[in-house]
Amino acid sequence: MIYIHIPFCVRKCLYCDFYSVTDKSLYRAYTDALIKEIEGIKGTETNTVYIGGGTPTAIGNYLLEIVDAVNKNLVLSENCEFTVEANPGTVDEKILSSLYKKGVNRISLGAQSFNDNELRALGRIHTSKEIFESCDAIKNAGFSNFSLDLMLATPHQTMESLEYTLSCIEKINPPHVSAYSLIVEEGTPFYDMELNLPNEDTERKMYYYASDFLSKLGLLRYEISNFAKEGFESRHNCGYWRDEEYIGLGAGAHSYYGGARYFNASDIKSYIEGKGRKEDYTPISEKERKLELFMLGLRMTAGVLYSGEFPERVNPLIEKGLLEIKEGRLRLTPRGTDCANLVFMEFLND
Ligand SMILES: C[S@@+](CC[C@H](N)C(=O)[O-])C[C@H]1O[C@@H](n2cnc3c(N)ncnc32)[C@H](O)[C@@H]1O
Ligand code: SF4
Repeated sequence: MIYIHIPFCVRKCLYCDFYSVTDKSLYRAYTDALIKEIEGIKGTETNTVYIGGGTPTAIGNYLLEIVDAVNKNLVLSENCEFTVEANPGTVDEKILSSLYKKGVNRISLGAQSFNDNELRALGRIHTSKEIFESCDAIKNAGFSNFSLDLMLATPHQTMESLEYTLSCIEKINPPHVSAYSLIVEEGTPFYDMELNLPNEDTERKMYYYASDFLSKLGLLRYEISNFAKEGFESRHNCGYWRDEEYIGLGAGAHSYYGGARYFNASDIKSYIEGKGRKEDYTPISEKERKLELFMLGLRMTAGVLYSGEFPERVNPLIEKGLLEIKEGRLRLTPRGTDCANLVFMEFLND
């Protein structure tokens, strides 16, 4: 699995704490540095490539150069899942067709909401109409595999406005949807703002309403926040949840292979200068790896294969009705799904 980070956005959304900047003057130097890093792992075989951000489509033709470098240097398996994240307002049929012709076969589009007042409150650069236009462009360019990101419990959102957003999803009929509940992160503008947010009960209602609605469209929940038609589950993300190894390229990207984690410096200028690449290295013990396997695997609806590991952590969670064992697999109960973060905390290493 290969992850490539593009740390640029047209404008920062008010809730987002992913590392990205808006300085266009860095596009050329960043692309060159990234291509060098790709060349550095020439010959690596992979079954998934995920170019994420930030907003990969914000950098236009530079993105095409990066895709060319991937094709030239890496060995993509047959049926390799090759995803690019895109934002409405930064894509048209021309760039999408070029990506498709170069072997990209999946687009993940950040829609978030189909209500313009909610999009404005989130600080998004696009309108609902532009989401529809981007989806038409994605389909016209030839993509049959694409995903839309939605956000739940955002400012001004109500059950009625969520129903409208979901009715737009029904019209577009994507084979994959991600739906994340808003996290107000420290350091983002939202953290210091008075927000008109739905309360926690409404947030849960929204999550269950969205889950039920999507399942009626054949989009079945396979992870806490991810829904797919059969065969369209994201292979790249499932790889993370199954604790598979990956190489991350670009500023701030993490890697995980050979029993250790590696981190690239997140500062773009340091990255361009070639400093801080995979210098920070943390070996992982066998116990830590197993705990992580549980923490990640429990995110998936199918859970993890279970043969009695960590009973001191697992049994109390079963007694509280948060975990259950079914056909040899340990998984979250519906109550456990409601407070998944509390469950995952029990699997942190000590
Ligand atoms: C890293 S973003 C990249 C996608 C793309 N740049 C976009 O914004 O459309 C991936 C997704 O994470 C979600 N996200 C980002 N910040 C969030 C937050 N604070 N709370 C909940 N979801 C968030 C959004 O749904 C977003 O589409
Ligand atoms: S949500 Fe996406 S577009 Fe908005 S700032 Fe974050 S990465 Fe950029």
